[in-house]
Amino acid sequence: MTTFRTLDTADLSGKRVLLRVDLNVPMDNGRVTDATRIERVLPTIREIADKGGRVILLAHFGRPKGRDPKESLAPVAKAVAEHLGRPVGFADDCIGDAAKAAVDALKPGDVLLLENTRFYKEEEKNDPAFVKALAANGDIWVNDAFSAAHRAHASTEGLGHVLPAYAGRTMQAEVEALAKALEAPQRPVLAVVGGAKVSSKLELLGNLVKKVDILVIGGGMANTFLAAQGKAVGKSLCEKDLLDTARQILATARDAGCEIVLPVDAVVASEFKAHAPSKVVSVDAVGPDDMILDIGPASILVVSEKLAEAKTLVWNGPFGAFELEPFDKGTTAVAQEAARLTKAVKLLSVAGGGDTVSALNHAGVGEAFSYVSTAGGAFLEWLEGKPLPGVEVLRA
Ligand code: 3PG
Ligand code: MG
Repeated sequence: MTTFRTLDTADLSGKRVLLRVDLNVPMDNGRVTDATRIERVLPTIREIADKGGRVILLAHFGRPKGRDPKESLAPVAKAVAEHLGRPVGFADDCIGDAAKAAVDALKPGDVLLLENTRFYKEEEKNDPAFVKALAANGDIWVNDAFSAAHRAHASTEGLGHVLPAYAGRTMQAEVEALAKALEAPQRPVLAVVGGAKVSSKLELLGNLVKKVDILVIGGGMANTFLAAQGKAVGKSLCEKDLLDTARQILATARDAGCEIVLPVDAVVASEFKAHAPSKVVSVDAVGPDDMILDIGPASILVVSEKLAEAKTLVWNGPFGAFELEPFDKGTTAVAQEAARLTKAVKLLSVAGGGDTVSALNHAGVGEAFSYVSTAGGAFLEWLEGKPLPGVEVLRA
C-alpha cells in the first residue's frame, strides 16, 4: 500500500497552513442543512491549530461562473465556527490583497476561511499563476478534501506541486478505509451497486466485476439486467439500448469468477408515488403495467445470505425508490443486516455516494457502518479504479 505524508511528520508550529477542505455543503436560505462535511474536517483543523499552525481554509462552493454572492462561503464560515466552537475569520477573496491582509493578521492557532476558490475560472483550470497566487499565503498545504479529490484543480491538486503537501486526518482515514475495502480486502468481497441507471455506472461495474467476488445489482439498473436476460419489466425504468452492454458485463463477470446477484422478486406498483398500491411478484411475472419500485422479501433474503458469506462490503446506490415509502424497505432491510454484521465484527462495511448516505441515514445505520464516505463523484471514480489527482499528489 502506498504511503502518504500525514500530519505526523508535518512541522506545523507557526506555519501558515493552507488546508483544503470540502465545504460544499447543502444549504437552504443561508443555513447549512447537513453539516456532515464540516464535522468531518474538525479534527484536522483542531490538530493544526493546537500545534500552533495558522489555519487557512480553502474551499469551493457550488459551480459559480465567476464571482457570485449567492455562492459565497461567508455563511459557511459561521457554521464552521459554530461546530468548531472557536472563532473563524473570513476574507472575501482567496487571493490578492484581501486574502493577504487577513492571513498576515493571523496568530498561531487562529482559523480563517478564504472565499470560494471557484470565483476564479483559473481554479478549475489548475492555472499555474493562480496556484502561485494561492501558494503566496501558505508555507505548507494540507489536503483534507477526499470528496473533491477527483478534481485536478488549483486548490485540490496544483498546490501539492509547489508547497510541501500532507494528507489531513479525514483524507487519511478515508483513503485507509477504502484501501481496506478494495485494495487489500478480506475476502469474499461483496459489492452492492444500485441506483437508477446502468449508463452512469458502466465503468464502475466493469471495474468491480474484476475486483469483487460477489456483485449484487439493485435499483432501476437491475431492471436493465433482468431485461437483458429476456425478462419482461413492464413500465419499469430500463435502458433498452444497453441490453448488449449488460450482457457483456455479465459475461465479463463470469470470466472473472464474480458471482452476479440479481433480484428474484420485486415490489411493483402502477405509479411512481409514495404509498401507491403495490404487490410482490416474481421477476418472471412482472406485468405490462407494473413498475418495479423495490426488491421483494425473497431478494432481501438472498442478499442477506450473501452478506453472511462476505467479509467485506462496498456499497453504492439504493435497491429501490427508497425516498418513497414503502419502497424503502429493501434498502433499509439490507442496510440494517449489514450494520448488524458490522457490529458483530463479521463484516467490514464501506459505503459512499450521495444517495447511499441518505439511504443509510434513512435506515438509521449511517453510524453503524465501518466507514461512510461523504464523497459523491470522488467515491464513484474510486470505485471505477481511477487514480484521484488530489490523492495521488500526496503520495510520498
Ligand atoms: C462534491 O460536492 O461532490 C464535491 O465537493 C465536488 O464538487 P463538484 O462536483 O462541483 O466538483
Ligand atoms: Mg459532485
